[in-house]
Amino acid sequence: MDRIRIVGGNELHGVIPISGAKNAALPLMIASLLTDDTLTLENVPHLADVEQLIRILGNHGADISVNGRRERQGESYARTIHFTSRNIVSTTAPYELVSKMRASFWVIGPLLAREGKARVSLPGGCAIGTRPVDLFIDGLTALGANIEIDGGYVNATAPAGGLVGGRYVFPKISVGATHVLMMAATLANGTTVLGNAAREPEVVDLAKCLNAMGAKITGQGTSTITVEGVPSLSGARHRVLPDRIETGTYAMAVAMTGGDVILEDTDASLLETALEAIRRTGAEISETNSGIRIVRNGAGIKPVDIVTDPFPGFPTDLQAQFMGLMTKSSGVSHITETIFENRFMHVQELARLGAKISLSGQTAKVEGVSRLKGAPVMATDLRASVSLVIAGLAAEGETMVSRVYHLDRGFERLEEKLTRCGAHVERVSD
Ligand code: EPZ
Repeated sequence: MDRIRIVGGNELHGVIPISGAKNAALPLMIASLLTDDTLTLENVPHLADVEQLIRILGNHGADISVNGRRERQGESYARTIHFTSRNIVSTTAPYELVSKMRASFWVIGPLLAREGKARVSLPGGCAIGTRPVDLFIDGLTALGANIEIDGGYVNATAPAGGLVGGRYVFPKISVGATHVLMMAATLANGTTVLGNAAREPEVVDLAKCLNAMGAKITGQGTSTITVEGVPSLSGARHRVLPDRIETGTYAMAVAMTGGDVILEDTDASLLETALEAIRRTGAEISETNSGIRIVRNGAGIKPVDIVTDPFPGFPTDLQAQFMGLMTKSSGVSHITETIFENRFMHVQELARLGAKISLSGQTAKVEGVSRLKGAPVMATDLRASVSLVIAGLAAEGETMVSRVYHLDRGFERLEEKLTRCGAHVERVSD
């Protein structure tokens, strides 16, 4: 199994191209199931999660080609992928596929809307929390679906004439349930109003693509989304928006190691809260024509408290990385996680590098130390693992990060991007 070897101590200088967002690409790919026409997505990142979803969509009958070639032959960066689901050959998403990636549960929306039925395995527990599916079930029920859970599967059926527009106010903000209800409502009879909807940029990107396919969605980016159902959707061409989590991760890496880096092909407006927190640590951040420049020269890292929140708050997907940065601050900071109940697994691994962190409920108290020292560490989830990479870049000596497959799920060409900026990072295959 691959590991990542880091020799810390170098500043980062150069340009890092930011990839298309994983968490936008996944729902966009799933949206292709809503039409028998071709959906072409540009700027799709080359990641293990994308490859897994390609397999899942293929199981439902999607014909998929990469850059005009067949799936698996295309190895290029920022790929263009064509998805054509002329016929849905199966409305079942089996446990073996869904258990590997939670987002694959989201096929329930398009399958139910287009075919009138779906049988999708429950995604099961996940390392960062229990992550139930009650909001999906209640929301789809509000659109007229009949849902039963049996043998670990969610069996959903639409009324004879198809889903019907309805009103659903999410009791809790959920990105995934907002994606699914928005997709399902596009083909429902009548108008759907979703209240307390997620406002994440990835939801806006999905709405933009669905509208290009002929949907009638308004209010995306606000808490109330209105979807006027249409009889069918067509194909479209859509460019996946930049990855705000990758952007924030590399910005935090520079804030931690020091240096001067331009993050290219990204957009500061996607992560204002996180950039503001990084600025308060002492780094300078400015917008360029095509992205963001981040500089930290000489000055130390100031302690900053953060609380994760749904967009536009501080993203939970950057919490671990920010904790990595705070381990070397000049004081005490508090990091509070409000989205997932168990998203602190990086704490014990950061401690192996010499970090001083104590946990009390959902808040971590981080006492900055003047130096971290490299050690073997283990990645426990995607964002936790990249926080270890960042900390390793700023630690003295060698850090070996194992279970790298977590990183491969969400960071495209991580070693290459960091190495080009002067870091010592290499993949070691055993
Ligand atoms: C998305 O997950 C992202 N995944 C996550 O990124 C991200 O951390 C999360 O949103 C929050 O921003 C993708 O986009 C593929 P939620 P999602 O539904 O949609 C609870 C990463 O590292 N909830 O917004 O699954 C849930 O347990 C991943 O890239 C219910 O209670 O998250 C959580 O506490 C990790 N019932 C909260 O809502 C439900 O039916 C928010 O989860 C659904 C969710």
